[in-house]
Amino acid sequence: MNTRRRSLTLLAAAALAATLSAGAHAQANEKIKVGLMLPYTGTFAALGTAIENGFRLYVQEQGGKIGGREIEFFKVDDESDPAKGPENANKLVKRDQVDVLVGTVHSGVAMAMAKVAKDTNTLLIVPNAGADAVTGPLCAPNIFRSSFSNWQPAYAMGLVAAEQQKHKTAVTLTWKYAAGDESVRGFKEGFESKGGKVVRELNLPFPNVEFQSLLTEIAALKPDAVYVFFAGGGAVKFVKDYAAAGLKGRIPLYGAGFLTDGTLEAQGAAAEGLLTTLHYADGLNNAKDKTFRLNYAKTYKLQPDVYAVQGYDAAQMLAAGLQAAGGDIKKRDAVVKGMEQARIDSPRGSFTMSKAHNPVQDIYLRKVEGKENRVVSVAAKNLADPARGCRMTQ
Ligand code: BEZ
Repeated sequence: MNTRRRSLTLLAAAALAATLSAGAHAQANEKIKVGLMLPYTGTFAALGTAIENGFRLYVQEQGGKIGGREIEFFKVDDESDPAKGPENANKLVKRDQVDVLVGTVHSGVAMAMAKVAKDTNTLLIVPNAGADAVTGPLCAPNIFRSSFSNWQPAYAMGLVAAEQQKHKTAVTLTWKYAAGDESVRGFKEGFESKGGKVVRELNLPFPNVEFQSLLTEIAALKPDAVYVFFAGGGAVKFVKDYAAAGLKGRIPLYGAGFLTDGTLEAQGAAAEGLLTTLHYADGLNNAKDKTFRLNYAKTYKLQPDVYAVQGYDAAQMLAAGLQAAGGDIKKRDAVVKGMEQARIDSPRGSFTMSKAHNPVQDIYLRKVEGKENRVVSVAAKNLADPARGCRMTQ
């Protein structure tokens, strides 16, 4: 090679190195784009806000960064409307080009998000919706959940109702959609495995709150117990209506813990003494929970609930993935591996990820005392969702 050709080659190599280094530098400085798809209106509005608060609190505690990278938020109100799910998810993925989707509360909307995430290979962290399918038939390497499957708290409640409370018959009542159906199925599985019998399954469309005729039917059926799945504004109304109908004290009422979480101020005396099962409770007394509650109350002038915990832990999971990938969200395999292998130090107690990417966690039995869901016992230790139908391929 003559001198002129050699210097041209060297110049080209230097230019390429400069471009690559500028690219790496820009990438290291680029913010991680987080797309929050949550309900900010409707019966689950307070749940969406609590999730966002929890997520932001963790970022704030890390000095505004996760895995050394600044965060930029993009938001969509999903209105808990499954029909708008694909369009809303695509706004974040295609228009805003987010690096990670975080959402949502409603199981039907979450299933639509999971399909978009699969089709576009976008990282998704579900910070509430329990749709069993998300970590069942829809499971995928890029889909994680920081919350629960609908089966988990419901199954545990079924065990408690039969084994500990010695009930023989139960009537179930829920909104007719994926979360309600799966919650009832989980309760029934636990309850009937220990000799109980679900004698009637009642429901009404989501998010209706005209409970009167259903309460009359329950009174006529006279089961040993009633199991329900309601959350948010609907849960407030149901617990008050149950007491007003004179059923409280006559037929014990149980539920997945969403029935009384984040709702006690509004439910007042109508909720006193109710037993529910959930992966969070008041009085857990671990160090992480104490700090979390203090910081949450200081930041938002509110007490946190299970939804805030799930938002906080979604951020912790993302941080674990980013740390494993040296802060590079594009190193998907490393991010996924980091999230899969993490032990999350959660306010609920520490948890790990199942093979299907759902928390393996303790489910607590809680009792309403005043404005708190006080922990009574561990209803199911280290409970893993059965992940029926999950084949981890994409
Ligand atoms: C759900 O749709 O999965 C859900 C909604 C509110 C609370 C818990 C679960």
